[in-house]
Amino acid sequence: MTNYRLRCISCEKEYVPQRSLYYCQECGPLMGTLEVIYDYDNIKIGRDFSKTASITQFSDLLPVKFQTDMDSFVGGTPLIRLKNLFGSDEIMIKFDGVSMSGSYKDRASIIAINKAIEYGFDTIFCASTGNAASSLAILSANTKLRTYIFVPSTIPKGKLAQLVAAGAIVLPLIGTYDEAFDISMDIGLKKGWYCRNSAINPYLLEGKKTGAYEIIVQNDYKVPDFCFVSVGDGTVVSSLFKGFMEFNRLGLTDRMPKIIGVQAEGASTLKRVFENGKPYLPVEEKVHTIADSISVGNPRDVIKACQYMEKYDGEFISVSDEEILKGIMTLGSTTGVFSEPAGATAFAGYMKMMRNRRISPEQSVCLVITGNGLKDIHAVENAVNVNNYKKEEIYNMLEGV
Ligand SMILES: Cc1ncc(COP(=O)(O)O)c(C=O)c1O
Ligand SMILES: [Zn+2]
Repeated sequence: MTNYRLRCISCEKEYVPQRSLYYCQECGPLMGTLEVIYDYDNIKIGRDFSKTASITQFSDLLPVKFQTDMDSFVGGTPLIRLKNLFGSDEIMIKFDGVSMSGSYKDRASIIAINKAIEYGFDTIFCASTGNAASSLAILSANTKLRTYIFVPSTIPKGKLAQLVAAGAIVLPLIGTYDEAFDISMDIGLKKGWYCRNSAINPYLLEGKKTGAYEIIVQNDYKVPDFCFVSVGDGTVVSSLFKGFMEFNRLGLTDRMPKIIGVQAEGASTLKRVFENGKPYLPVEEKVHTIADSISVGNPRDVIKACQYMEKYDGEFISVSDEEILKGIMTLGSTTGVFSEPAGATAFAGYMKMMRNRRISPEQSVCLVITGNGLKDIHAVENAVNVNNYKKEEIYNMLEGV
């Protein structure tokens, strides 16, 4: 753990960290997201991180003291390097689908769990499209924390099974993720439970930024030209900006990558807010996409994501559900990476930019694949609807093969 302060992303007021301080008291929860600030001049680190170690190796850049048995099982996911694919000389796939709970969200949950323990809470709550919740449930299962989970009742069965198996108290709401978020805040804060909600808890982004650190370390401190990631609330994309920015600020890299935030066409609220220009304001829309993890109509990290996009020249793009479904199959059959729809959204965005000749073959590309395909089998049901055969039919079919 290193010394840190909290600063409001709207009015820049600084706060000393306190037990139940989540957002700027003057700007409120949506405009007043707090960001963790370090004294970078006093952090002395070199290019000597491990390519396989867990996120605990980044303790000098994190606002937490690691103290659970699960800490050393978060992070350290593979960066798969593939040559001559899809028109690129080389692409890299940062695959967080192989993490403990099968998604990128482990990086944030482990920080929230450690913070809850540090501050002496006995209960933690979370509203989620599914992955944040299942990672919280799984990583806190062997702690003393009670875990309350607010999810939309449409959550994919794989994610629900993870929650139940991990012993969390699950409250599936007949309603949207955005509604589940609102009631979780109302109930959770009144009850005095610790909040693990995206964009509200400032420490979550700190865990997520370690994905960017790992990409740099695993790529021998070279910065990819492009980095693609899918976007719902906007915390993951913001965390990548912060991670790449910090390594650059600390002299470990020489530039920033171009970060492309990919949304589903039916849930592209953040893209619209950004394209409408300043002032960036929270909005609420009705959304629909098969990519359940990014089906967000009232994005909670809207201001921070737009500010980062603007400052570091990133871009939001969107892809159709059809492109996402096709992306799952193309990615799987060419790389072996089986992704849930939200993960494949990043890949579909890359394919779209390749088709539009926005990326040249020699430019290096990193795709952040944020969730495992086994979490949402239903999404690919039609594609895996294969015929069954009698024994003789199989013999006949394969004769001469
Ligand atoms: C697999 C996956 N990818 C991407 C995202 C998007 O993250 P964010 O909501 O922070 O934009 C999520 C969020 O739940 C997710 O579960
Ligand atoms: Zn403020």
